[in-house]
Amino acid sequence: MDQSSFQKQLDALRAHRVAKSGSMREAFAADPQRFEKFSATDGDLLLDWSKCAVDRQTMDLLEKLAAAADLEGRRDAMFSGKRINVTEGRAVLHTALRNLNGKGIVLDGQDVKAEVVAVLDAMGAFADAVRSGKAAGATGKKITDVVNIGIGGSDLGPAMATLALAPYHDGPRAHYVSNIDGAHIHDTLKELSAETTLFIVASKTFTTVETMTNAETARKWVQNALGKEAVGKHFAAVSTALDLVAKFGIASDRVFGFWDWVGGRYSVWGAIGLPVMIAVGPKNFRAFLDGAHAMDEHFQTAPLARNLPVLMGLIGWWHRVICKYPARAVIPYDQRLSRLPAYLQQLDMESNGKSVTLDGGAVTTPTGPLVWGEPGTNGQHAFFQLLHQGTDFIPVEFLAAAIGHEPDLKHHHDLLLANCLAQSEAFMKGRTLEEARAQMLAKGMDPADVDRIAPHRVFSGDRPSVTILYRQLDPHTFGRLIALYEHRVFVEGTLFNINSFDQWGVELGKELATGLLPVVEGKEVVEGKENAAKRDASTAGLVGHIHRLRGS
Ligand code: F6P
Repeated sequence: MDQSSFQKQLDALRAHRVAKSGSMREAFAADPQRFEKFSATDGDLLLDWSKCAVDRQTMDLLEKLAAAADLEGRRDAMFSGKRINVTEGRAVLHTALRNLNGKGIVLDGQDVKAEVVAVLDAMGAFADAVRSGKAAGATGKKITDVVNIGIGGSDLGPAMATLALAPYHDGPRAHYVSNIDGAHIHDTLKELSAETTLFIVASKTFTTVETMTNAETARKWVQNALGKEAVGKHFAAVSTALDLVAKFGIASDRVFGFWDWVGGRYSVWGAIGLPVMIAVGPKNFRAFLDGAHAMDEHFQTAPLARNLPVLMGLIGWWHRVICKYPARAVIPYDQRLSRLPAYLQQLDMESNGKSVTLDGGAVTTPTGPLVWGEPGTNGQHAFFQLLHQGTDFIPVEFLAAAIGHEPDLKHHHDLLLANCLAQSEAFMKGRTLEEARAQMLAKGMDPADVDRIAPHRVFSGDRPSVTILYRQLDPHTFGRLIALYEHRVFVEGTLFNINSFDQWGVELGKELATGLLPVVEGKEVVEGKENAAKRDASTAGLVGHIHRLRGS
């Protein structure tokens, strides 16, 4: 990053924002070409950011900012396997998991493509065997249910993908257990039969306490129902820690590996995607990978001004740093993307929720926003009130397919799309006091009531939103969408000048939880004045209350 030229562009963008005047309504009225100017496509995928408060100069300045941050140089460094995850000394090569046709990628003298393909082939053979019944349970019955036990990146990606690809799901039912709360595994298993259930223990490190606790509970459940010898037929594992998997007792031909150059939140493309592959079959999984690879190529080759991840990143950065909006809402008008916001929370917030720059200094601009959302239209009947009339502006990202998967229910889909378009129009246009009054008077309301109520019916407008449209949510398109978001996070992380690929911020809580377990179990006392040095008064007080409630 060229600090001084970056600062120059930053200052120019700040000054530009202050100087910018006029509403978005006026901008649309003044320029009939606004949509063409502020939208871009990659095949059927369209990104429309014309309802954001930007003009040509904003985009020019943002592109110069990207150049000052050496965005293209950093992008190329990532794709070529440079160790850009500097705090962990690792390459960032999740893109190699889907680069199956191109030339090999050599890392530390080894062609990683050969290893990637070998794991993918092994996954495919295992998925086929489970789907066909060849890899049956211990009593010979076909597997009907697959339970993935994992958390964070070992759960959110495959869980989201399984739901997104539901129309292609022709394999065993898929379930996801992540929470250490015993309720999660209990409620999942109570519907299942051990004879026909396969567990996939998915953990990059194979040490994550939630996953290992759930895996042990699952192993006991199988043992109690079918005996110790049955375990082998009912477990598989996905991990980078092959030694720990062996210790757990899972046979090596049922272990699917990945590598330290794949971050947990970027891992759905490899072995972590095994439950998805079993659900939708290797062919559809491959289409998902090919879609992501197509987006990788677009990201590497499209000019910045037409490059979808770059544009999304620049707009995201503009909203966060220059406009100072603290959050962004992701609202898929696509029920099958209902886990996308949860997935993006990890992808985006674990990547870009940082306060230290790449060289260890304090950041001088805000970094990643709070990311949240729910599918439309449900969100409209919940939190959209605040998005339309609340005191904070929260940029919204809408996603929608032109065509649903249910031709008989086209009317539903038309209503869905009409709502999606209506919301972004409402955010942009708003409604003035005069318009609110005129509408109420036209309905014959008493003028005194109009005076009283009209201010409550005003919408400020100028609330920014981005819309992403695609033809249909098929595996290829879904792969493109997820890769689009991955690269957008990379673009924003580059502009924030942070390392988007570590996650030290999750450590402290984990360490403290380990120390607190004996306290919660009652084996160690932290209450009372004599123990004041051990814990803060609040934690000691909470522990005391738990013990009183438990009668212990
Ligand atoms: O919460 C931190 C984290 O390390 C995530 O980055 C990761 O996706 C998750 O835990 C699960 O880790 P593992 O796959 O090693 O069990």
